[in-house]
Amino acid sequence: MRVVELIAQGAKRLSEAGCLDVWIESVLILSHTLGKSKEWVLAHPEAQVVQEEEHLFFSLLERRANREPLPYILGQVEFYGITLKIDRRALIPRPETELLVEKALDWARSLPSLTVADVGTGSGAVAIALALHLGEKGLVYGLDSSPQALELAQENAALNRVEKRIVFLLSDLLSALEKPVDLIVANLPYVPSAQLEKLAPELQWEPREALDGGPDGLESIRKLLSQAPSYLKRGGAILLEVGPGQARKVKALARKAFPHARISSFPDLRGIMRVVMVEDASP
Ligand SMILES: C[S@@+](CC[C@H](N)C(=O)[O-])C[C@H]1O[C@@H](n2cnc3c(N)ncnc32)[C@H](O)[C@@H]1O
Repeated sequence: MRVVELIAQGAKRLSEAGCLDVWIESVLILSHTLGKSKEWVLAHPEAQVVQEEEHLFFSLLERRANREPLPYILGQVEFYGITLKIDRRALIPRPETELLVEKALDWARSLPSLTVADVGTGSGAVAIALALHLGEKGLVYGLDSSPQALELAQENAALNRVEKRIVFLLSDLLSALEKPVDLIVANLPYVPSAQLEKLAPELQWEPREALDGGPDGLESIRKLLSQAPSYLKRGGAILLEVGPGQARKVKALARKAFPHARISSFPDLRGIMRVVMVEDASP
């Protein structure tokens, strides 16, 4: 079959399965199958595809029609301009989490050196973006309670050549840290348990422990904030990603843990308060 026919068949199959961006996804699955860029595929509609590649294309397409997320099928994802390997060992990094990185780098700008803990590091996305942008002045700890996620995070750190600047630790939240750090960043699970089953089918493929935030979604964040005073240096800061409608409650929890802190929040591109910042200002 020709490229143009395969793309059309792919888009039709994905549309029947209820997927949304069916044309571009069909193109991306074909370009992955052929080992060519998406630009090459788009520029060669008449190219003939051999039968073996056709079989592979249709088998990958079936995985997507089964609502497996595209990044798991392609095996990679872009985050903050970095390419990461991704598979079912960890949550797929989301674009809104780039705000967490942005705010962390803003906060770090005036410091000559710092230590950072990325709690719930998953694929390592945030830790790796920070290590790359902080360069020599930063030492990053990537903490997770999932050994599988940590394995993937380590592979990603090596792929991005920052393995010497990140220390990965198996940890229940901050508990494995031996010394307080200047900055704590965390994108912890924050979906209320009862909402999990109602989420898009794609989310059912991701690790449940990466999404499930307990009855009100705030179980992990609440626990982190109660641990944090013992793990944050004086004058340090905490940046937390939160879900829609959670910022106000998280700010109140932060106020209890840090009575003298400056506490603020920042919206994402959709106007959802996405990041809560706690800056210690204790006397
Ligand atoms: C929402 S995912 C975020 C992954 C990654 N930071 C990102 O933004 O793509 C949450 C991560 O927190 C981890 N996690 C959940 N509970 C934890 C705990 N008690 N201690 C450490 N990590 C935890 C999960 O294994 C998962 O990797």
